[in-house]
Amino acid sequence: MVATARDFDKTLREMANQPNQMQADYWNGIGGTQWVNRKERFDSQLGTFIPLIVDSLELRPNDAVLDIGCGTGALTRALADKVPDGSALGLDISEAMIEDALASRGERTNLDFRIADIQTASHPGIAPRAIASRFGVMFFSQPTKAFENLASWAAPEAELCFVCWQSPQLNPWIGLPGELAEPFIGAPPALEPGQPSPFAFADPNLIASILSTSGWTEQAIHAVKTHLYIGGPGSLDQTVEFVLGGTSLAIGMREADPESVAKATDAVHAGLAPYHDGIGVRMDCAIWLVRATKAG
Ligand SMILES: C[S@@+](CC[C@H](N)C(=O)[O-])C[C@H]1O[C@@H](n2cnc3c(N)ncnc32)[C@H](O)[C@@H]1O
Repeated sequence: MVATARDFDKTLREMANQPNQMQADYWNGIGGTQWVNRKERFDSQLGTFIPLIVDSLELRPNDAVLDIGCGTGALTRALADKVPDGSALGLDISEAMIEDALASRGERTNLDFRIADIQTASHPGIAPRAIASRFGVMFFSQPTKAFENLASWAAPEAELCFVCWQSPQLNPWIGLPGELAEPFIGAPPALEPGQPSPFAFADPNLIASILSTSGWTEQAIHAVKTHLYIGGPGSLDQTVEFVLGGTSLAIGMREADPESVAKATDAVHAGLAPYHDGIGVRMDCAIWLVRATKAG
């Protein structure tokens, strides 16, 4: 029996054999809710990447710009500021994320958000002169199809710029909390390079191949190694709450018995403590800054 509108939507997607079913379910379920509930912490953790993307684009005041996998819209709002006479549109598969992003529009008239699966969505009704994304392009089951779709929407010679994570080895901030908690709450979902996950685009050769077969040329893929504060600056307790309640580890924490939850919390606390520098839990991270132009 169909219980809610969301269940009904899920049933329809299953009937249509929705290609991104697992990701759609995750981002319309626990993934989306957790992100919305901790959006300030996610935005604080990922804030430095916004100027990197915005400054890589040659935006003009009247440009139409798209943000892919926009989440709660931090990058879209920054893009809108750069195109006061144009428009910025954020697209995301998650209903909860888009609902939250829409609520952040305020008085702005050049900013909008819509629910869309980039891989299957029809033309958004604008021909973007620039397409951007902060960690929103790694979750497609058929990435070539998604980037073909984007190229078919884009204006001639449109710019594309996104950031995505390099390998898990160069991003210990993602894997370490899971390794610390695993003996007590079980392994978090595997994050496989090449599969829809934060590490889908870890291999730059794969990125280059996807872009060149989907209508994007003049690619530049730059390695950026830096650091981040997990969940943004904050106390050790706040960071532990963020990783155990706001990431995929929350699934194991919900299912574990109270003793295992306590042990996992202690283990993550002890394991992250050496990385707290007085401001927050600071760890290395590595991304690819990817730029390309729509092929003529
Ligand atoms: C890691 S989050 C990043 C969110 C946002 N870009 C940010 O930086 O705050 C990844 C986002 O991609 C979205 N997403 C995943 N698969 C998608 C798809 N097929 N179409 C559109 N959005 C998708 C998720 O819902 C999620 O909001």
